[in-house]
Amino acid sequence: MKTRQIAIDGVSSSGKTTVGKIVAERLGYEFIDSGLLYRLATKIVLDRELPKERYAEALNGVSVDIVEGKIIVDGSVFPMDLLRTKEVDELVSPVSEDPKVREEITDLLRKIASSKNVVMVGRDIGSVVLKDAFLKVFLTATLEERANRRFKELFLRGENITFEEVYENLKKRDVIDSTREVAPLKVPEDAYVIDTTMLSIEEVVTLIFEFIKGKEYALRNSQNYSDTLF
Ligand code: DC
Repeated sequence: MKTRQIAIDGVSSSGKTTVGKIVAERLGYEFIDSGLLYRLATKIVLDRELPKERYAEALNGVSVDIVEGKIIVDGSVFPMDLLRTKEVDELVSPVSEDPKVREEITDLLRKIASSKNVVMVGRDIGSVVLKDAFLKVFLTATLEERANRRFKELFLRGENITFEEVYENLKKRDVIDSTREVAPLKVPEDAYVIDTTMLSIEEVVTLIFEFIKGKEYALRNSQNYSDTLF
C-alpha cells in the first residue's frame, strides 16, 4: 500500500507535537511523535541504571509500538507522564546519540509509516527516517520563547524546576542534537521552514495546510502533464 507521510522536524519545544497532532487529526492520519521513543529508551536507561557504554541495550528484547498516539510496551500502554520528566529531559539527548538506539528506533518508525498515513515529528524525520515524505516542514523558534513554553508546561504539571534550568537544558540539547555524529538535527534540503516565535498554533497549522495544497496542486499538474505526453 502506498502511504502518505508528512515529516515535521525542528528544535526542542518549537511546537512540533502540538501542531503535528492537529494536522494529523484534521487529515485523519496517525500522529507519531518519534521523540517519545527516544524518551522511552532513556527511561529504561534510568530505571536500569545503565552506564553510557550500555545505552545500546536499552531497547533489547522490548516490544514497542505506537498506536493512536500511545506508546505500547510489551503489550501495555506506557504512562506518558513518565517520559516527560526533568530526569528524562536531562539524559535524552546523550541516549539519542547512541547509533544502535537510533538504528532500532529508525527501523520501527519506518515500519509504522509503511502501513498507514502518518504525520511524524522529530529531529531527523525528513532528513533520514522518511526521506521521501510527501511534505517536509522544519519548525524553529527563539530559545527564550521555547524555554517559556516548556517552563509553563512543566510548571503546570507541578515539576520543581526554574526557568533558568529549563533554558539551560534546551540550550544544551540544541547543541547535542545538532552536532551528534549520527543523524544530527538539520533542515532537510526540501523542507519548508517556519519560525513559530511570533505565530499562534492555528497560524502554523494553516501554513502547513497551504503547503499541502501547494504540493497536491503540483502533483496534479505533473500527472496531467504526463497524461498529455502518453
Ligand atoms: O521532541 P522531544 O523533545 O520529545 O525529543 C526528545 C529528544 O529525543 C531530543 O532531545 C532528541 C531526541 N530525538 C532524536 O534524536 N531524534 C528524533 N527523531 C526525535 C527525538
